[in-house]
Amino acid sequence: MKILVIGSGGREHAIVEAISRSPKASKIYAAPGNAGIAQLAECVAIKDTEVEKLVEFAKSHNVELTVVGPEAALAVGVVDRFREEGLAIFGPTKAAAEIEASKDFAKRLMVKYDVPTAAYATFTDFDEAMAYVRKGTLPTVLKYDGLAAGKGVVIAETMEEAEATLRDMLLDTKFGEGRVVIEEFLTGEEFSLMCFVAGNKISPMPVAQDHKRAYDNDEGPNTGGMGAYTELPFISAEDHAYAMEKIMQRVADAMVAEGTPFTGVLYGGLMKTPQGIKVIEFNARFGDPETEVVLPRLKSDAVEVFMAVANNEQPAAEWSEGATLGIVLASKGYPGSYDKGAVIRGTERVESKIYHMGTAKKDGELVTAGGRVMIVVAEAATLREAQQKAEADVALVECDNLFHRTDIGAKAFK
Ligand code: AMP
Ligand code: GLY
Repeated sequence: MKILVIGSGGREHAIVEAISRSPKASKIYAAPGNAGIAQLAECVAIKDTEVEKLVEFAKSHNVELTVVGPEAALAVGVVDRFREEGLAIFGPTKAAAEIEASKDFAKRLMVKYDVPTAAYATFTDFDEAMAYVRKGTLPTVLKYDGLAAGKGVVIAETMEEAEATLRDMLLDTKFGEGRVVIEEFLTGEEFSLMCFVAGNKISPMPVAQDHKRAYDNDEGPNTGGMGAYTELPFISAEDHAYAMEKIMQRVADAMVAEGTPFTGVLYGGLMKTPQGIKVIEFNARFGDPETEVVLPRLKSDAVEVFMAVANNEQPAAEWSEGATLGIVLASKGYPGSYDKGAVIRGTERVESKIYHMGTAKKDGELVTAGGRVMIVVAEAATLREAQQKAEADVALVECDNLFHRTDIGAKAFK
């Protein structure tokens, strides 16, 4: 089969690598792909949101299955267009992807179907929003309603901060048209539960934990994710069963009942609070960097799993025992401004998997070309071993403009 993967990050590198392990894959294309993906697939210069070009490419190259990585492609309706043309595609329709694109849609769905989540209210009017915040407690959680590339959530510790944020979100047009979801502040361990979903048929992936802050001990600014691991000791079998039944299955059923059945990956961003497991957010796609630590454990044929979902059949995914841990190498300065073009050496000595996030080839050498540059993912029998192996392998990568966190997985050992 000829397969097309849409996207260009570490997540898509992991997807391409999983597909490359399938005997069913005869040719893999990536649009637009990256320098790491280029080792496994033919990269084609089409952006993830250029829907008509993607459709045309899939048709003219007899692509039999397309897998969508980024939310931006879903939000412009790539799945809807492929389906109109009778092309098999893995991902949700634009209407189903609203569960990620609109916080308000997700919240209303959860309340209607009794899915545990933080209490909330939605506002478009600045004065009404401020009145609500003044009545409530601090900190308070302010979420811009719409795709904001991870920058749309502010946890305001003071009334002044809340006011300034609401001004930004509702009065200035910094974020575009203003609508804000104000939420109760929850506490607890966060974890990511991704499921393959085909209508009401669902199949879980191993639970993972992301590390969103730039520096050790969860300090510094939010990023696209500085590392992740699988096998979370604080999530019991009972917690998992609860999250599957009361959250993931319930939402899959709700989407069918609402006439917007979900197909693809439903990502539950969950928190284990003192009052039980609750939803922080949903995403309509594979998480990044969770995918990079989850897909290496896929024992089933990835093409069969993706195809089953695309055909609305029960996905059956099996996973290896053991644990994985991934450490992101990012450009110094990220998530603020940073230089590009620093030479990277030593990757050939790394035994772990390396997924490229922002690299390029220049004069035959690998160079940095983005904020997050690559993720080194180790697999081992235990999480401790995976952590040691990942750290040892990261030390082999030579580049004078990269940094990484040294505490990925630390919460598992507390
Ligand atoms: P997001 O950008 O939507 O991934 O959210 C960023 C982060 O904000 C989440 O990963 C949580 O750490 C935090 N967060 C979001 N909602 C809440 C909430 N209701 N209570 C506490 N923390 C939250
Ligand atoms: N790891 C968080 C996300 O993919 O949105």
